Amino acid sequence: MNTTELEATVRAMTARGKGLLAADESSGTIKKRFDSIGLESTETNRRDYRQMLFTTEGLEQAVSGVILYDETIRQSADDGRSLASILQGKGIVPGIKVDKGTLAMAPGSTEKLTEGFDGVAKRYEEYYRLGARFAKWRAVYSITDQLPSARNILLNAQGLARYAAITQQSGLVPIVEPEVLMDGAHTLERCEEVTTTVLQAVFQALAVEGVALELMVLKPNMVISGKECPVQAGAREVAEATVRCFRRTVPAAVPGIMFLSGGQGDVQATENLNAINALSAHHPWVFSFSYGRALQAPALKAWGGKQENVAAGQRALHKRALLNGAACRGEYQAQMEQAA
Ligand code: 13P
Repeated sequence: MNTTELEATVRAMTARGKGLLAADESSGTIKKRFDSIGLESTETNRRDYRQMLFTTEGLEQAVSGVILYDETIRQSADDGRSLASILQGKGIVPGIKVDKGTLAMAPGSTEKLTEGFDGVAKRYEEYYRLGARFAKWRAVYSITDQLPSARNILLNAQGLARYAAITQQSGLVPIVEPEVLMDGAHTLERCEEVTTTVLQAVFQALAVEGVALELMVLKPNMVISGKECPVQAGAREVAEATVRCFRRTVPAAVPGIMFLSGGQGDVQATENLNAINALSAHHPWVFSFSYGRALQAPALKAWGGKQENVAAGQRALHKRALLNGAACRGEYQAQMEQAA
């Protein structure tokens, strides 16, 4: 394992006041996003969209890395440069989504397991050549009164840990993403209980696989009320429950906790991240963002698939990135939404 390079990658990813842009939507997911603006999901449109995002001037002020999809890491901009090299030129680290999505855990089960181990070491050789220095693997957990099951928690943890070990051996930094979904009417307390159990299992499995905790990044959900819960916890409550949960489960050796947005509104995701960082400066970890929808939604809308709106799309992305950068320092204020 090339520890020096992995250390440099982790340091760059978790630089203070910066976070990750998750732009690794699979073809199915990006189609859903494009449907919302009435745009056909063709390879060219997907390339144009990612080119718009990555050529945003000043993106590097608040974005340290971008997670790419297999198709995207192979694409080039109009000027012939690869999209990955455009990011590198700004000092932004390219990364790759390496899992291949989820499948039912068993026939008829609503629980999911993540696919993607086939040929993964070989794929990493190519991704590394294409510029990727970190990877992402996502496991998902649904909350009901009975779920997630103990078996689902165990198998997903083992998958995440095996992926993390292979990734470090291949010279890339693993982002370990256990996502407890927001869907459902569960309370904040129930989300905290499930997230705690999930993280305990994940770190136990990482220890079994001998994963170097200093050389990985955790990408978890925040502890938050279910979307349909009649009582929605505010930012302060979310921050307290989230920090309590991580203090109980995440070893201090992990350098960065970079949250997914998971369906939170863009402003809500910034407010919650800010509240977490405003609680106290005395955490062993950097609390930052690795947002997909919460960074991209306003940019996608402003762009609308039209060449003449590229600048407007980039302004929207730049604004959200800077506001989330401020939230990483606990310096975000609501009035900045108007001023930015
Ligand atoms: P969201 O921030 O939209 O949840 O996306 C992050 C991500 O990478 C999910 O895997």
